[in-house]
Amino acid sequence: MTTSSITTPDLPDAPSAPPRPDGPLATAHEQLATAVEHLGYDEGLHRMLATPRREIHVAVPLRRDSGETVLFHGFRVQHNVSRGPGKGGLRYHPSVDIDEVRALAMWMTWKCGVVDLPYGGAKGGVTIDPREYSLSELERVTRRYTSEIMPMIGPDTDIMAPDMGTDSQTMAWVMDTYSVNRGYTIPAVVTGKPLAVGGSLGRGTATSAGIVHVTAAALEKVGEKLDGVSVAVQGFGKVGSHAAAIFAARGARVVAVSDQYGGIKADTGIDVDRLFAHVAATGSVVGFDGADPISNAELLALDVDVLVPAAVEGVLDEVTASQVRARYVVEGANGPTTTAGDRILAKNGVTVVPDVLANAGGVVVSYFEWVQANQTYWWTEQEIAEKLEHRMTTAYHEVAAMARKHGVSLRDAALIIGVKRTAEAHEIRGLYP
Ligand SMILES: NC(=O)c1ccc[n+]([C@@H]2O[C@H](COP(=O)([O-])OP(=O)(O)OC[C@H]3O[C@@H](n4cnc5c(N)ncnc54)[C@H](O)[C@@H]3O)[C@@H](O)[C@H]2O)c1
Repeated sequence: MTTSSITTPDLPDAPSAPPRPDGPLATAHEQLATAVEHLGYDEGLHRMLATPRREIHVAVPLRRDSGETVLFHGFRVQHNVSRGPGKGGLRYHPSVDIDEVRALAMWMTWKCGVVDLPYGGAKGGVTIDPREYSLSELERVTRRYTSEIMPMIGPDTDIMAPDMGTDSQTMAWVMDTYSVNRGYTIPAVVTGKPLAVGGSLGRGTATSAGIVHVTAAALEKVGEKLDGVSVAVQGFGKVGSHAAAIFAARGARVVAVSDQYGGIKADTGIDVDRLFAHVAATGSVVGFDGADPISNAELLALDVDVLVPAAVEGVLDEVTASQVRARYVVEGANGPTTTAGDRILAKNGVTVVPDVLANAGGVVVSYFEWVQANQTYWWTEQEIAEKLEHRMTTAYHEVAAMARKHGVSLRDAALIIGVKRTAEAHEIRGLYP
């Protein structure tokens, strides 16, 4: 018999603790307050929009391959479900806490509103560094987390997708655990699944393709094309790596990329295909022989046309934002710019295409996957690519028109659209009882 010892990681803040200043929830609240002010909503509606409908905090024990038992904290937050079921990713990262999950769930609500999907916003997370655990350990964590939050999720209530630290395999485990417990296969409980179990063509690259579509739309406004434009991408994960590849395929020059270990730079352009092979072999962009080393801080300050932060929150704050020399910041990550950083970028004339618009391609194709799974009828890659481009370009033009109408930034305009659509659904449905 194995003797197990219990290791308890630091507990996250209690739900009642005020959000960390400049943390993601504080940023999300400030953005909402700006939109509410433009829309002239009263305090009651503002509070309703600021407050998650449902939250769950679960303990996730894991028996490690060594026999030792460790305990993680898991969360799922449904921020708003007025427009439809909750929709949002599952994040595995050591910095996950309840406030981060709340902020990410709120951003999902506005994002689904901006691209006009029949969803509310949700998000989940487990405070774990997935790189430190084996595949079978991660499978057990995922299955236990899914079992613990089971009453809250479902194809009509709350639909998960991959986020940082999780992938299509994670979604297959969630789908299997949920289905086994219900007694039959329910593919529509998650999106971002492998194709073999009901995934959608184009989902793996959808967020990245959407980033490139909105960048192209923004450049088109000033009579420019992607061809020859210089791009730097922070984060070479699911979003950043494919964004770099698609930018390069569409004629842009990807001059720098990074990950959590460091970055690389080549003024003549990085060979992204070869970089994929290097990352597959070494686990990082660092050490790629076709480029020079560069730090993450240096990457953010490069003199490029387009900067795509596609890693973590809060990287463009009052210090780093003042060093940005890019003309456009296209937010691949959720919440990469703090409120103070946003003000500085605006003052310096940098156009920010906000996360709730720029990275919405993932949830758009997740919606397509959910529709296909509900109908058990799958579309072609071309149909998906065309529908995605249409949604993203339409949303960009709606946001740009709103920005012109109110004389505000693209971020404020996107928030106004997302918040207004959510509030309208809430008001039309009425308050129960
Ligand atoms: N996956 C999606 O479809 C999707 C959709 C919308 C938004 N997002 C957002 O995009 C961001 C990235 O998500 P992902 O799915 O690509 O995650 P991922 O885990 O696949 O990749 C994250 C990348 O960021 C790097 N990174 C982590 N910490 C870093 C740091 N401190 N500095 C620099 N690089 C760092 C990692 O090394 C990795 O290359 C997140 O904010 C996520 O919420 C993802």
